[in-house]
Order: sequence, then structure tokens, then C-alpha cells
Amino acid sequence: MCGIIAHIGDKQVLSPLVTGLEKLEYRGYDSAGVAVKNGSGLDVWKCSGRVSDLKETIDDVESKANLGIGHTRWSTHGPPSDENAHPHTDGSDRVAAVHNGIIENYEPIKERLIDEGYEFTSDTDTEVIPNLIAYYLDRGNDALDAFNHTLDDLEGSYAIAVIVDRIDSIFAARRGSPLILGIEDESYYLASDVPAFLDHTDEVVYLEDGDTVEVRSEGVNIVDEDDQTAQHQIQQVDWQPEETGKGQYDHFMLKEIHTQPTSLQKTVEGRLDTDAGVTDLDIDKDLSDIDAVHLVGCGTSYHAALFGASLLNRCDVSARAIRASEYDANTGTPPGNRLFVAVTQSGETADTLGALRQAKEAGVETLAVTNVVQSTAAREADEAVYIRAGPEIGVAATKTFSSQAVMLTMLSQHLARVNENGSRVENVNELVADLMELPDAVEEILQSSDTARLAREFLHSDSYFFIGRSLGCSVAKEGALKFKEITYEHAEGFASGELKHGPLALVTDKTPVFAVCGGDNQKTVTNAKEAKTRGAPIVAISPHDHSIVDTADEHLYVPDLHPVCSNLLANVQLQLLSYHCATELNRPIDKPRNLAKSVTVE
Ligand code: AGP
Repeated sequence: MCGIIAHIGDKQVLSPLVTGLEKLEYRGYDSAGVAVKNGSGLDVWKCSGRVSDLKETIDDVESKANLGIGHTRWSTHGPPSDENAHPHTDGSDRVAAVHNGIIENYEPIKERLIDEGYEFTSDTDTEVIPNLIAYYLDRGNDALDAFNHTLDDLEGSYAIAVIVDRIDSIFAARRGSPLILGIEDESYYLASDVPAFLDHTDEVVYLEDGDTVEVRSEGVNIVDEDDQTAQHQIQQVDWQPEETGKGQYDHFMLKEIHTQPTSLQKTVEGRLDTDAGVTDLDIDKDLSDIDAVHLVGCGTSYHAALFGASLLNRCDVSARAIRASEYDANTGTPPGNRLFVAVTQSGETADTLGALRQAKEAGVETLAVTNVVQSTAAREADEAVYIRAGPEIGVAATKTFSSQAVMLTMLSQHLARVNENGSRVENVNELVADLMELPDAVEEILQSSDTARLAREFLHSDSYFFIGRSLGCSVAKEGALKFKEITYEHAEGFASGELKHGPLALVTDKTPVFAVCGGDNQKTVTNAKEAKTRGAPIVAISPHDHSIVDTADEHLYVPDLHPVCSNLLANVQLQLLSYHCATELNRPIDKPRNLAKSVTVE
């Protein structure tokens, strides 16, 4: 949550800072602000609301400043307001700071500084940073020493960027929140994520936890946690600038749904072979002794974990999907034979990282399944496999769920092979062949989906229920999460068999039931009939010749492939359904209220 950017260059920095903030807005959109060094002073503009509101306030500004910082906020300490917006400054406006993370010991620091006569105007934890730097400057330290002393005083997690009047440097540090350096000739960027500067450069240095950075026009000095000059490699990012824009689409979410044929293609590229099955997942560790797999994630990633666990169990590998916030490493199979799989698009979700760290401490083998190269999960896990879905900007995860589920499908086959358990997954050869066909099948759905009409048909329902079994159950749960997240309407996803154990009491003719039948789910047909008898309209999501079609009032078609694929295709229909309902209701699709894409607080 929260996005930070800093930039020093040979041209004016105000507009690249603001454009960069627009690309980071998925990380939080409660307020936005920028600060630049202007001659010997600092100029700050900030306001509650979106980056577009900030743009209005600086529309007429002619700035020649060549160094500055910016921030887009997801509120933790204090409500969204102009006062709580970053950048924060000290009382004398000598220091400006932006921060992503939480300063846990800000209260005693704040009290101490207030006693010393320093003034605070916001509710935030961040405001102690510029004031502490000012405190150390007042005691004769130069700017770098004042910054370093400040870091020594802080507890918690953070990525910070700071500018100081009269000093032509940006000071920055990373402890537990992402921070990446972008290098373009003699211009430098620091940002929470690559899209912030991808229009300018794809050359990056992934900073490590404990790094402290001073960036000047003449170059960068990075000091690691052992106070040694760090020698990080410059890497090239494999993302294209156009991937971070909306292109021809009205919303990022719609673009990301529509680019699934390509993202899925990349997920399986070089990893599948119709004769040899799953070929190469780039996993070096020998996983042949693994008796139990814990797939751990949050939200959509948890639903992908559920999908993966269903498949692993069918491969006779004991597996459980666990919500990261509920994970306890000290239960179950002895750590030595357990595999912990962190399922996380961003690789930065605090709950998932907390669980990953617990698992490592307990001596469990760890693997990250993530989309973001060099994300914290990727670095901290023993190994990482990348889903290669490309940047996902819409807060509602779409293409990354599909790629995660396919990745976990391939992992289940890999584990089945190295464990020599065989696989009870039906028709493995057909599965591999159908995974290769999945991109085309998604395209078929994108071209023919009837969800726009159905969205209008059921628009003013009391509630929306999604049911399915096994793989279909994880898709039903994901369908409901997507629906509530972007439409703000009440939706629930159930195992179909559970409907009659309670939720059926809520079923009326105003509660459509969406029945996911991507495979031979005869019992779901019975459960759908139970709801229909109570008046609920039934929408089947299934191949044409599935028997659910006879029970259903409406039908959303999915090609008849292996159940793994047909259920994932059902999910694409549900993504479109949510999207069209949210559009009808005029919701801010890419930035749903109260949410942020990367949830870095527990
Ligand atoms: C889903 O649409 C949400 N964006 C959310 O549930 C998300 O999946 C969750 O916060 C986990 O994020 P991660 O995959 O980056 O760890």
C-alpha cells in the first residue's frame, strides 16, 4: 500500500513525478502529493483524493526543479485528508519525506520531538521522519548523517525517500517495503514499482532490505545493512511500457481480462510438452521427499491456492490451502517434509510474507509463486517460480488468478512426477494438451460472452450466490470475491453442497445462483435444483452439453476441455460478469473504494 517515487534528472521533474504517481495509483488512492527542490527551498503540493486532483492543483505551475519526490496514499494512520497526505515536512519546511510502510515506534518519537519544540500537523506516523531529520540537522549533522541517525531511531517497515533544502541529493532507504532504482543515463528514479518509470527506462537495480541510498546527478551510492558499499547488479526488466497503459480499453481490468490469452501463453511457454507433460518449472530443489504442501495466500491468491490444493490432493500429495493471516507453522507434518508455497501476485502482501517467515523459521522448505520478479516473497523464499502474467494494474486480480492456477496445476504435475506417486488427475495427457489450448479457448469466450446482457438482467438483485464443487468451488469463491469487490453488491461463493446447510435460507427469486460446472459436477446440478425450487434464477456456467443446462434459466458457455481448463474458463465468464455489472452501476472499476492492490499491512 502507498506508492512512492523520487526522481533526479537533467530536466524538470514535476511532470515525470506526477506521471509516475499515476502508474502507482493502484497502490493507494486516498491522497497524492509531490515535493521538489526549488532553488534553496522546497515546494510541496498535496491533497486528498486522486492523482487527477493533484494534477489540477499544479496545472499552471512552471517548475524547473530537477529533483523531487511523490506519494500516493492508502490510509493507515489518520483518515484521508490534505493534512495527512504525503510528502510530510518538518515545521520549518527544510525536509520533505514520502514513506510506504509503518513506523511502529512513532508515538514515543513524536512525544519526544514535541517536548523539544518540533511541530506536528498530521495524524500520520510518517511525520516523525522529516522532524527527526530536522532534529539531527539542528544538532550539527550533515544531511546524510541526519538521515542515517533517523533510520537508526525508526522501528517498523518502510521504503522512504527524502529531500532536504539546499542539498542536491535524494536520500532513500528500504526496510521491508519495496524500492527499486531506475537508471536512465544521468537521470535516476526510485519507486515502489517499475511501472512508475518504465516509460523512461527498463534498467533497474532491485534494492535490498537494509540498503541506504544517496542519489545525486553524478551517481548513486548504495550502502548495505553491514555499512558496506553495495554492488548490486543492474538488471533489465522484461516488461514493455505499453503493458502499463490502458491501451484501447476503458479500464485496466477489462484490458487485463482481454490479455489473458497472451499472459496464459507466457505462463506455459517452455514448460509444457504434450508428450513429456510438465517439462521445466525452473525448480532446482529436490522435492521428492515432500509429504505435504501448504499453499498460502490471501484473497484471490488464496482462491488460486484452493484450486492448486484440489489438484495436488488428486495427485496423492497431501495439500492444504491456508489463508496467510491464519497460518501457523507449528502444526501438521514435520517441517522437513513439508513444502510451503507462497501464492502471491505482488510478492509483497504482508500477511503472506509473515506466514513465509514463520515457515522459514520452522525449517520448512519454501517456494514463492509470484508475478513480480525480485519481489520480497521471491527473494525470501528458498526458490521462486514466476507466473509471467505481466504487470497487473487493476486492483481486482484477473489475469494473475488464471496464471497462478495454471502454474499450480503445473506444479502439481511436477510434484506428482518427482514423488513418483503417479497422478490421479484424470487424463494427464489431455490436461497438458488442453492447457496449451487454453489461450485460444479464452479468446473464444472473450468474443462470445453473453455476460453484458446477463449483468443488466440481474442488476438489481438482493444478493448473488456462486456455487461449485472442488475446482469449481475455488472458482465460485473467486467469482463472488470479484463481484463484491468491484460492484459493492453482496455476493457469496459456496461449495455447492453447503448451500442446503444454511445459505439456502437466503435464497429467493431475487438471489440469482451462478453454478460453476466446468467438469462432471452432477451433484452441483442437484444443488442448483434445490435453489431453483426455492425460486432462485439459475445461471449455469458450463459446456453446452452439461446436464446443468436443462435446469438453468440462463447459460454461460465454456468450451468442453479438461475440467482444470473448463473451470478456469468459467472464471473468465465470471470476471466479465462482475465487470459488466460494475460498469452498469458506474463503479470505479480499477480503484474500488477502501482497497489497494498490494496490501503491505497485517
Ligand atoms: C483480489 O482481486 C484482490 N486484489 C486481493 O484479494 C489480492 O488477491 C490479495 O490482496 C493478495 O494479493 P497478492 O496476490 O499480491 O498477495
